[in-house]
Amino acid sequence: GGESHVYDYDFPFEGPFGSYDTNQLQRGLQIYTEICSACHGLRYVAFRNLSDEGGPSLPEEQMRAYAEGFEVWDPTLFDGEGDFRPATPADKFPASSLANAPDLSLMAKARAGFHGPYGTGISQLINGMGGAEYIASLLAGYEEEPECALEGDPMDGYYNTVFEAGGYPETCVDEEGHRTVPGSYIAMAPPLYGDDVTYADGHSTELEEEAQDVAAFLMWTAEPKLVARKQAGLTGVIFLTVLSVLLYLTNKRLWAPHK
Ligand code: HEM
Repeated sequence: GGESHVYDYDFPFEGPFGSYDTNQLQRGLQIYTEICSACHGLRYVAFRNLSDEGGPSLPEEQMRAYAEGFEVWDPTLFDGEGDFRPATPADKFPASSLANAPDLSLMAKARAGFHGPYGTGISQLINGMGGAEYIASLLAGYEEEPECALEGDPMDGYYNTVFEAGGYPETCVDEEGHRTVPGSYIAMAPPLYGDDVTYADGHSTELEEEAQDVAAFLMWTAEPKLVARKQAGLTGVIFLTVLSVLLYLTNKRLWAPHK
């Protein structure tokens, strides 16, 4: 297709010193809860992790109350016949309730925002994989059908300039069969328009802000240990640097009498 429309948003968790912004993760959780959870599940994420340091950091009581708002199927209840009960912190979020809506737990790692140049993926070394950028851009990437679509052509879903896996208008290809416009039809109706929620922290609810917030939250669900991993890496680099200097000096001193 044409140029990818994934925008390189600046997320606070990027770079060697980056970390998740607690407020942003809480806003993203709110978007997920109020909008996305109608269709998408998070079945690998346990409620208790919402209280983890470095994550949304919900106070214990708030996390418990949040979990109780979900019903889970418990096969041990009702003399082994099973029954629904309110979720506890040990339970995981429900799976997707809409069959063709994918689970979002790992989505930020399953998609890449940057592929170039020429499909080599070298830009990922500098910009990261771009999973969160992909999600934010996807949510903000709905547009009218491209002009190359035939007037009155039945639309096969909603046109999204970032989604590449769907069908596209037959008339939007050149002689060699290559697509002339980015994006394709997606089965998901635009879930966000801007001003879809009311944030407790007064943050902007413009479409792109909401999109970044939920994308950041989904980065956390996919990689909750990102910050710890970065810190360990940085500690390793510092340690090895100090070690190299010491070894260099030791070497000098050991061989000094023989030179
Ligand atoms: C697909 C995110 C709300 C239905 C997706 C994908 C993402 C996503 C990342 C995968 C796109 C891909 O495969 O590359 C979100 C977020 C939402 C949201 C963050 C809330 C802000 C909803 C809602 C519905 C829905 C409310 C149902 C009414 C679907 C469906 C697909 C999908 C059916 C599959 C699309 C296809 O493969 O054509 N969503 N979604 N989503 N979503 Fe959502």
